[in-house]
Amino acid sequence: MTDGIITGEKLAKEFKEHSVAEFFKKNRQMLGLYGKVRTLTTVVHEYVTNSLDACEEAHILPEIEVKLDELGNEYYQLTVKDNGPGLTKETVGKALGQLLSGTKFHRMMQMRGQQGIGSAGATMLSQITTGKATKVITGTGKKAFAAEITIDPKHNKPKVENIRDLDKKFRGTMIQAKFKGVIYRESALGPLEYLRRTAIANPHAQITFRTPKGETIVFKRTATFIPKMPKPMKPHPNGVSVDDIITMGRTSKARKVSSFLKTDLERVGDTSIEKIQKLVNFDLNKDPKKLTWDEAEQIVNAFKKIEFIAPSTEGLRPIGEKRIKKSLESIVEPEFVHTITRPPKVYAGGFPFQVEIGMAYGGKAGKSLNETNGKNKKEENPEEAKVEIMRFANRAPLLFDNGNCAITKAVHSIDWKRYGIRDLESVPLTIFVNFISVHVPYTGAGKQAIADEDEIMDELRLALMKCARKTSQYISARRREIENRMKRDMFYKYIPEIARALHNITKANEKKLIKHLEHLVLTKLKLEKPDDMKEQAKNKKETKKEGK
Ligand SMILES: Nc1ncnc2c1ncn2[C@@H]1O[C@H](COP(=O)(O)OP(=O)(O)OP(=O)(O)O)[C@@H](O)[C@H]1O
Ligand SMILES: [Mg+2]
Repeated sequence: MTDGIITGEKLAKEFKEHSVAEFFKKNRQMLGLYGKVRTLTTVVHEYVTNSLDACEEAHILPEIEVKLDELGNEYYQLTVKDNGPGLTKETVGKALGQLLSGTKFHRMMQMRGQQGIGSAGATMLSQITTGKATKVITGTGKKAFAAEITIDPKHNKPKVENIRDLDKKFRGTMIQAKFKGVIYRESALGPLEYLRRTAIANPHAQITFRTPKGETIVFKRTATFIPKMPKPMKPHPNGVSVDDIITMGRTSKARKVSSFLKTDLERVGDTSIEKIQKLVNFDLNKDPKKLTWDEAEQIVNAFKKIEFIAPSTEGLRPIGEKRIKKSLESIVEPEFVHTITRPPKVYAGGFPFQVEIGMAYGGKAGKSLNETNGKNKKEENPEEAKVEIMRFANRAPLLFDNGNCAITKAVHSIDWKRYGIRDLESVPLTIFVNFISVHVPYTGAGKQAIADEDEIMDELRLALMKCARKTSQYISARRREIENRMKRDMFYKYIPEIARALHNITKANEKKLIKHLEHLVLTKLKLEKPDDMKEQAKNKKETKKEGK
């Protein structure tokens, strides 16, 4: 062996194990924690989605307060408080200080969170940018307690310190964390726009935002219903892999493979078991804990040959057409809104999903052409607007990675000219899309884009086209009305002259002639009197009354 030459033995000394926390500490961009503006919005997103999820599961009408304080240059403190079910001393550390732990990853349930990474990722970011712990006050309705959480990245273990019992009773969770290297902007990618969109898709939530400038913005709830509790679903045989079967078999309480498949998977009954038994070369009375890879593979192959009933969709919780409409009317303030909640569908054979679309046209809908601050364009200049696409997954706004997302791709794949929209770059249109599923196929751990699976794309396109048809009817009616108004104004200009000429010929009363001609124009064009004329008539009436 010569010095300087790398050998297998030398390399072996470099071999080390790493925890998932160390991995994400090094690759924080994978959690969406990159870019100064994006990072701040992402941590707001993580805490707010957790609050909404927790309230929904505990059947509580959410009241959420978000506060951002500027502590220095690119240095902010974020406080998020909710009235949810709260955390206990046993769970608080795992919830906020251990990656890949939580109540959602192992359950097939329509929730905003999915992975068990979000809040611990935020704790880690705070720790690595400021060296400070994340503070929490939480309670389950009895006496609350305060604690400070950090994370030991080497072992992916939480450190819970300074636990103090508080005198007051409190139900909910308040988390306070500091972050450096982040910037607050009131842009389309900033926390304000994020919360505005959260409010649209969660009309039952009351959200208060205290900005770093000291302003308080309240997104009032427009509905007082509490969404039905999301229901955990069992995996469908067409959505499981060989590895899933092995892992589930190990933890199953069933003693036989046959009963394991029947109880732990959806839509597997005695008839399917008989069919599977004929397709595999081992006895299904075997202990599921002892399934080999080859046997599990045989089961998955057998699944492919059997026709199962499609997965149940009862675990899906759409917002609903009326509520989306009300929300868009109140927050976007358009002239016209149409909404559609489509029936559930299935992707990749085993995952139920549903699509909801809202199209808001005119008024303050759309994005301003030259504004970058995310606020809606001015009503006076509807021409100066371009399309605004609001993407949501399980009611949580997706602000980033839009080019990579099935929703954006579906919107741009449609021939909008067929719907009376010449150019999406100049139309006062807001397109709202909510994709819901017990398992959202995100393209990355940052959870900002939905994968373009075939069934998802087909359904998105269909739903968009259905909604666009209704919107185009409104747009053409609106265009006709504008044209007719222009015609009416032109005719009105000549009416006095025509009336005078007619009077000269027929000696008929000139005023009566004017009225008659005006009436004729209005009925032909199916229009009303112009507003200014109505105003004049009203003023005349009022002066007469006063004179009496
Ligand atoms: N405000 C809260 N109230 C109650 N429980 C909470 C709250 N925030 C977090 N939790 C609990 O902590 C767990 C971990 O949260 P975390 O955000 O890390 O993961 P997640 O929400 O399960 O998935 P994701 O990584 O996709 O966000 C949650 O599953 C939930 O059980
Ligand atoms: Mg979460």
